[in-house]
Amino acid sequence: MTLRERCPILRFGDLGDERGKLVVIEGAQAVPFEIRRVFYIYDSDATVVRGQHANRESEFVLINVAGQSKVRITDGTEEFIADLDQPRMGIYIPRMIWKDMYAFSPDSVLLVLASTHYRDSEYIRDYQEYLREMKARKAEG
Ligand code: TYD
Repeated sequence: MTLRERCPILRFGDLGDERGKLVVIEGAQAVPFEIRRVFYIYDSDATVVRGQHANRESEFVLINVAGQSKVRITDGTEEFIADLDQPRMGIYIPRMIWKDMYAFSPDSVLLVLASTHYRDSEYIRDYQEYLREMKARKAEG
């Protein structure tokens, strides 16, 4: 599978009506995991780069519910950039994928759904360490 196939763009339905839009995201239905954690990032500006980590255990879905940002995704070999610019689209990020979020618009609110509770030790924050672990995993098959 290509990196893009492993990190699909998700499109969420709209249950809205003349009163406005309503988007519902149910764990293990609209996203491919049970949701154990929700956090959101705002007041980051265009100069900031966030993320810069991979997770050994957590899966994520990133949604710009307001404004826009970009996320650069790599597995150490392939790379692509996703534009998060619609409140009804998200990107699924499985385990062991390196991600950088940047180019935040002033009104950006980046909502993140995660499959785990927070545990610092499952984060890899050093890119060289990430590449080493990826190589070791590949060698193990
Ligand atoms: P960080 O991982 O740098 O945020 P991002 O990936 O969004 O750029 O997190 C910033 C700080 O917040 C860091 O000290 C860890 C802490 N944190 C938690 O305690 N719980 C969480 O769920 C998250 C995402 C971060």
